[in-house]
Amino acid sequence: MVDTELSIRPMSGLPEFSQLGWGHWFTLRDLQVATNRFSKDNIIGDGGYGVVYQGHLINGTPVAVKKLLNNPGQADKDFRVEVEAIGHVRHKNLVRLLGYCMEGTQRMLVYEYVNNGNLEQWLHGGMRQHGYLTWEARMKILLGTAKALAYLHEAIEPKVVHRDIKSSNILIDNNFNAKLSDFGLAKLLGAGKSYITTRVMGTFGYVAPEYANSGLLNEKSDVYSFGVVLLEAITGRDPVDHGRPENEVNLVEWLKTMVARRRSEEVVDPMIETRPSTSALKRGLLTALRCVDPDADKRPKMSQVVRMLESEEYPMPRQDRRHRRGGAGEGESQMENSDTDRNENPDTKQ
Ligand SMILES: Nc1ncnc2c1ncn2[C@@H]1O[C@H](COP(=O)(O)OP(=O)(O)O)[C@@H](O)[C@H]1O
Ligand SMILES: [Mg+2]
Repeated sequence: MVDTELSIRPMSGLPEFSQLGWGHWFTLRDLQVATNRFSKDNIIGDGGYGVVYQGHLINGTPVAVKKLLNNPGQADKDFRVEVEAIGHVRHKNLVRLLGYCMEGTQRMLVYEYVNNGNLEQWLHGGMRQHGYLTWEARMKILLGTAKALAYLHEAIEPKVVHRDIKSSNILIDNNFNAKLSDFGLAKLLGAGKSYITTRVMGTFGYVAPEYANSGLLNEKSDVYSFGVVLLEAITGRDPVDHGRPENEVNLVEWLKTMVARRRSEEVVDPMIETRPSTSALKRGLLTALRCVDPDADKRPKMSQVVRMLESEEYPMPRQDRRHRRGGAGEGESQMENSDTDRNENPDTKQ
């Protein structure tokens, strides 16, 4: 069987009888075989939802098997309903769920294996032997992530709030396409669980203020976290880095200060060999700053974020903006009040 066939039909050659509507119901035995009996050597991660193993199905398809934390409160039927809901969600920038396993108290999810690391590794040295991402690669990855989120929030019913957007959940394929992982998992495990709370605290730098303060959560919390990841990709800095001077520990706060002081050219990750144009940098920074607005209602929708990142005309050049005054969309009128405007035209007072 050739590799390309497996990537298009990862289940080919496997017995038909165990297939359900969208995917595959694996036995514990199938997954033991796939992961060399859940060998320690196959562990590729240990996150808030459980342990992740790398493995191969008997037809050769590479997979990631996520062994969920035991959740005895959940009935088999509920689990199946939730997993099937996630399984039906398909998008080129979402990691594909191939199937699941439910035996005794064991709950596992089987995903396609995405083999080029995750954004966290690429940005913070885990892929150093492969070099560093260019500006263009970073923006392609962030645009793909934005499209996946726009799809989850706006194109499907019921909508899916991811709840754990962070760079290690953005996997990367050989063509540097983003593949967002772990969507729907928070819901699957139930939001009231204490480990969910612990996990949220663990990824503090990404969490929207209203979520951190009151547990209030909707898709605008994902927009905030997306903004943090965008800033992380532009600067190469961690969202919270205690190794830095006090005023630089919190990435969002530091960025706001730098932009207000007209020093945005200085924030670009020094590892990026070919610097972005001023307008591309401005586009990225202003999009990110709108996403991390402390007021959730003022944050853009993800479909607007996609348009901002794709538009050569965002932010609109100053001379064009005057003609459009009055007719300007929400985004553009906000741009007029933006601090970075002053950055390029230090002599112009707003
Ligand atoms: N489908 C997949 N293909 C390849 N690697 C994956 C896949 N899913 C998860 N991983 C890797 O497993 C690791 C742990 O994942 P996870 O348990 O979700 O922890 P995290 O909190 O870091 O996201 C991550 O580094 C991620 O890159
Ligand atoms: Mg993850």
